[in-house]
Amino acid sequence: MSENRVIGAEVIEDARKRGRLTFEVLPGDIVTSLASETAARVGINLLNGPIEKPAPLRSDGNTSMRRSLYRRSPKWVAPARNASTTARRFSKIALVGSGGVGSNIAHLAANADMADEIALIDIAPGVAAATALDLNHASGITGTRARVFGGEDLSLVAGANVIVVTAGRARLPGMSRADLIGANTRVIRSTAAVIRTLAPKAIVIVVTNPLDEMTVEMLRATGLPREQVLGMAGTLDSSRFRNALAMAAGVTPADVQAITLGSHGDEMAPITSLARIKGRALDAFLSQDQIDACVKDAITGGGQVVALRKTGSATIAPAHSTVELLDYVRGAKTGPIPVSVMLDGEYGLKNVVLGVPARLGACGLVSIENLRLSEAEMVALHSAAGAISERLGL
Ligand code: LAC
Repeated sequence: MSENRVIGAEVIEDARKRGRLTFEVLPGDIVTSLASETAARVGINLLNGPIEKPAPLRSDGNTSMRRSLYRRSPKWVAPARNASTTARRFSKIALVGSGGVGSNIAHLAANADMADEIALIDIAPGVAAATALDLNHASGITGTRARVFGGEDLSLVAGANVIVVTAGRARLPGMSRADLIGANTRVIRSTAAVIRTLAPKAIVIVVTNPLDEMTVEMLRATGLPREQVLGMAGTLDSSRFRNALAMAAGVTPADVQAITLGSHGDEMAPITSLARIKGRALDAFLSQDQIDACVKDAITGGGQVVALRKTGSATIAPAHSTVELLDYVRGAKTGPIPVSVMLDGEYGLKNVVLGVPARLGACGLVSIENLRLSEAEMVALHSAAGAISERLGL
């Protein structure tokens, strides 16, 4: 048996100097009253331990979601990563738009060797073909079997199992995503017309902004069922939210389970009531001000990148977040994941595309999970739906 520790003020001061916001007090520890006062003064939370074992480093969206939805006790440790051995391989992924997001998706998808063929399409002459060639040049090192093709013609979508649409204008500093509605609706309509005739069975993942509105437009213009048209936003916003919470609490992102729902914009709804850090509610680690700052960070994350870059928006995290959806569609990962879909009564909403937790599969949307949200979170979802409908003139 180890000896009981005496936790004095200097131990707390030292932990704070090392950037800690929490201090684990184990059974048998003696915490001096000066140490308690010091903790309160310097903003360290004294947590009664033992805190559960840290989650495995290779956590992923699926495990995170399962932890937050199905946790039974604070000591619960996530099961091993649920990587299916029966993941399907796509015969063809088509990427409409080969800018920063499209080319990063191609890179990640090729590296994961998840398709026989990846078609990159971009109206800018030579851009898609150049990226395709560049990626194929890497295959001598990576050994990936996926062949990448690039061109300017939308007819390259023919025969694709999945089409990811990133084409359109990106935000510039000072713009909101909604400012892009006019320009990007035209892009979605022309892409939809080709999908309708050449790839009517494909699952379409919309990434073009404003995300929720453009997903509605894709549904309308293709006439495809809601199962086939998905919007990518929740995986990205949830990742940003988990990153913010991890930074604030001084833990690794794998220790954080949190999702965002609602719109991909100002009406985003980061779900704090179900979020957990090392299996505990957020207030075990963070003050309300810190939680509010993390919520704000998730909502403004995309805008922060735009403000720094000045010439466009984020590329890497959106690409990872899209590949996450591809992994759920092909069965490499299973479980609920936040995705923007047309609602048909779920959460009391109809005829609006909104980020909700859903299960995906080879045919796209399989089912929508009904989470028990707090009253404030339900209000946030409904006001996001109202704002999107208003912007679309519904
Ligand atoms: C973002 C863009 C892709 O949030 O909407 O970074």
